[in-house]
Amino acid sequence: MKKGVKYVVRKKGMFWPSQEMKKIANITDSKIYEKAAKNPIKFWENLAREGITWEKEWDKAYVEKLPYFQWFRNGKLNFSVNCLDRHLDHGSRVAMIWVPEPVSEKPVKWTYRELYDKVCRFANVLKSNGIRKGDVVSIYLPMIPEALVAMLACTRIGAIHSVVFSAFSTDALRARIEDGNAKIIITSDGYFRRGKPEFLLKKAVKAAKNTTVEKIIVVDRLGKRVRGKKFLDFYTEVELADSYCEPEIVNSQDTMFILYTSGTTGKPKGIVHDTGGYAVQAYWTSKWNFNLNPGDLMWCTADVGWITGHTYAFYGPLLTGATTLIYEGSPDYPDPGRWWEIIEEHKVNVFYTAPTAIRMFMRVNENWIKKHDLSSIRILGTVGEPIDEESWMWYFEKIGGGRCPIIDTWWQTETGGTLINVLPGIGPFVPTVSGKSFPGVTHRIVDDNGKPVKKGKEGFLVQKSPFAPGMLHGVFNNHKKYVDTYWKKFRKYYDTSDGAFIYKGLIRITGRTDDVMKVAGHRLATAELENAIHSHKKVAECAVVPMPDEIRGQVPVAFVVLKRGGGSERLERKIKKFVDQKIGPTARPHKIYFVGDLPKTRSGKIMRRILKALLVNEEPKGLMTLVNPESVEEIRKTISKYGSKK
Ligand code: PRX
Repeated sequence: MKKGVKYVVRKKGMFWPSQEMKKIANITDSKIYEKAAKNPIKFWENLAREGITWEKEWDKAYVEKLPYFQWFRNGKLNFSVNCLDRHLDHGSRVAMIWVPEPVSEKPVKWTYRELYDKVCRFANVLKSNGIRKGDVVSIYLPMIPEALVAMLACTRIGAIHSVVFSAFSTDALRARIEDGNAKIIITSDGYFRRGKPEFLLKKAVKAAKNTTVEKIIVVDRLGKRVRGKKFLDFYTEVELADSYCEPEIVNSQDTMFILYTSGTTGKPKGIVHDTGGYAVQAYWTSKWNFNLNPGDLMWCTADVGWITGHTYAFYGPLLTGATTLIYEGSPDYPDPGRWWEIIEEHKVNVFYTAPTAIRMFMRVNENWIKKHDLSSIRILGTVGEPIDEESWMWYFEKIGGGRCPIIDTWWQTETGGTLINVLPGIGPFVPTVSGKSFPGVTHRIVDDNGKPVKKGKEGFLVQKSPFAPGMLHGVFNNHKKYVDTYWKKFRKYYDTSDGAFIYKGLIRITGRTDDVMKVAGHRLATAELENAIHSHKKVAECAVVPMPDEIRGQVPVAFVVLKRGGGSERLERKIKKFVDQKIGPTARPHKIYFVGDLPKTRSGKIMRRILKALLVNEEPKGLMTLVNPESVEEIRKTISKYGSKK
């Protein structure tokens, strides 16, 4: 491995930015935190002016009437103008590099001008198919460049995009189409995954049946031409369309996109993000966390079906005029050297991934990494779940060559952009610790009553007013859910549903405090999975709990009571397949235990806590409250018979 520039130094057992990092960092003065805290609204106003191109300035920077608040009220802008038009003076710069999975296919590079041209044309396609400002467009696409075109085209005309993760099932897609009343779906015939074609179109067609969808626009990725009145071929339409599309100027507070995420109930919620506030936060977090400037190359490995893909694989790099790299395929296909080869070939400067991927690579032969020159990397990022010290150190040494800061970014679908992390030009970089609230944002760690906990004690992580500009602006068509989920418990604080404590003056996240699991960084509600399993005709009752997993962080395990008869391996396989159909393979239970009864309280509440303890071989507490304590022994036996891991 080549040495490369050293961006960190070790001081007092901690890592700090080196002089080289200080020289290149977009922000190095730690006073920024105090300055911002003095008047956060003014601070964000200044950032909004400096970072974003507005058609007209806002009449009021921040309006709050909890549980709702608005940033840059009546400020006028167009999001795609900020990602594209304003970079056209340097239109020959590369905006995007796409690496297809098959090694035989060449990477595709689009300049800002080329991307602009495609976005304008496709925006005209949407318009000519009746899409107007405020309409919802469903996007069911894998990691191909057309996803970027489709999303930006929506923002060009003020339409609301609703991206659905391509590995989600027909049922999951249908639920999201129905909730948003989408008139159009943009999908592809499929994509490549682990060397094989994955077909998407059939799923999309099935999902669209008997819904509001009038047209399906299909990207030809696998060479399958579609025919029929309902279908439009993406490129045929793009070529026919006009190459200029006047940007629709929207209000800052107008909805830009919806993204569904799991809550604690069975139905996913449509998280609503506005335009101006989101743009400001996406821009400045990219600028300060990842130090992005024109000419820099960022690779965020997240899929566009998740918020990380939206903000840092697509929008953040483009807002800052940098270049984004997106990759279609599996991290270890055709071999575990693939990611590192991509970094070497394209000279990636900022690499952003999840602890799950890091833990997976820790288990492969080091030579797959060692043989590649990773000296182009300046900053490493991690997101999605807490990272343990061993994985942090491995990432730091093996990928960063001991040279690069690790920016452990805590945030959520709801927050739109990162909120808690250390800034690369300021430091310190401490394993397992996310860091400080982004300048201009305040978090507190509180007890059940909303009172601050004692220093160093664990509590609930909440955010305080004024709330960050990128924050959600509601749950789509569901005011009650918005209030119940985020504002009921602490009222004046936004409830993150995460636990945290202060360590060395910085925030360390301990994980979810509700019934939400993080499986390989993906968010999954136990209730959603229970609903899916419960709808299987043979299932009488079920409970899903997370089990610790060395690579994926957590995996779901299901305990199932059948209506009749005993379970079998065949039925276990069938139920797993059933979950694939209902939600998608990311939700597939790792193991299903068939049991006679589930531990319940007198009021009928299933004690998941007991199941969790049994899974990790701990003695469960509080058995006295159960109506059926004998169920515990039976479950213990079942677990030991089949083993807690498969
Ligand atoms: O529990 C926290 C965890 O991921 C949750 C949000 O999940 P999602 O909406 O899917 O967004 C993930 C990517 C932004 C949080 O409530 N989480 C996210 N980042 C971190 C984290 N936990 C620990 N450390 C992080 N850096």
